[in-house]
Amino acid sequence: MHTSIAAGIAFDSMASFYDRSFTGSLIGRAQRNAVWRVLGETFFAGDRILELNCGTGEDAIFLGRRGVSLVGYDASKRMIEVANRRLQDENALLDITFEVQATEELGSIGGPFDGVLSNFSGLNCIKDLRPTAVNLAALTVPGATAIFCLSTRFCAWESIYYGLMCHLRKATRRWSGTTLARLEGVQLPVYYPTVTQIQRTFSPFFRLTAMKGIGVLVPPSYVEGWAQRHRRVFRILEGFDRTVSQWPVFRIIGDHVLLVFERTGS
Ligand SMILES: C[S@@+](CC[C@H](N)C(=O)[O-])C[C@H]1O[C@@H](n2cnc3c(N)ncnc32)[C@H](O)[C@@H]1O
Repeated sequence: MHTSIAAGIAFDSMASFYDRSFTGSLIGRAQRNAVWRVLGETFFAGDRILELNCGTGEDAIFLGRRGVSLVGYDASKRMIEVANRRLQDENALLDITFEVQATEELGSIGGPFDGVLSNFSGLNCIKDLRPTAVNLAALTVPGATAIFCLSTRFCAWESIYYGLMCHLRKATRRWSGTTLARLEGVQLPVYYPTVTQIQRTFSPFFRLTAMKGIGVLVPPSYVEGWAQRHRRVFRILEGFDRTVSQWPVFRIIGDHVLLVFERTGS
């Protein structure tokens, strides 16, 4: 099965509860707020942004409310249905369009865009990101900013958490660079490229200008039960995360890493 079809089916089965289980969770909110701080400083009213793997549209609506114009694509029909319903529920008319489209098929869409966003690991579902880099280069103007937030190759929280529980397979699952995830019974290959590999893949069209960790002290979402029971500790970790997530080494050992690229003139 083509990976984007498998991803579509896997995420279709999660669409109805994705916002309840992740977007609205303590951890999901904390990690997304960290991404939004960067989005708010990067994309402005009047910008035209392409969002890949937009899911249920949470980031699109955040940007749309700020006057950003956005086209969001996702391989999952159900995720796009949820995103469209949320758009209809908005009080104001936002300049946002959602469409079902696999990232692998970006060649068929029209540009140009002032920026690109891919949040929370949609790009980890693609084995070879080089065609995506080439397509994005054709779709963006020189100087455009691309923000990619991917799952990291090594997550300290995950390895320590599962290590202490003696689940060695889970503690080390990202280390080889690929794993077979099971989402609601659907198997989906997931890839964990390193920052250097991503940087090489997007060069020379995109130049890495900044990076920060997302969820360095804030744990991965499957630790939500613990976060709910220890809200004060969680809030303290979230506060320190703002600083620690900028530090060398620490910024690449979180649950996710956020990479800021600039479209070069190449
Ligand atoms: C973890 S969700 C993140 C959704 C959203 N960006 C967010 O921040 O909540 C990953 C999303 O990537 C989408 N996805 C995975 N592989 C894809 C592909 N090859 N093409 C397009 N979308 C894909 C899934 O359908 C899913 O909606």
